[in-house]
Amino acid sequence: MIVCVCRRVNDKAIAQAARCGASFDDIQIDMGVATQCGQCESSARAVWMQCRPSQPTAHLQLQAKAPAPA
Ligand code: FES
Repeated sequence: MIVCVCRRVNDKAIAQAARCGASFDDIQIDMGVATQCGQCESSARAVWMQCRPSQPTAHLQLQAKAPAPA
């Protein structure tokens, strides 16, 4: 789903960056989210907050996707 119409950024891109540890500022700088009209900021922040590593469920999702040690 497109979150930022002005910059054509979807929720998956924001979620992936958040899971990799990007701050919201990083996402704004790298993708341009919420840097034009600003209408998407609350939605983009909600996606980022749900997926950032400090959220316990995000950690569980990351661990579930991590490859098994060799
Ligand atoms: S919709 Fe994201 S800056 Fe306009």
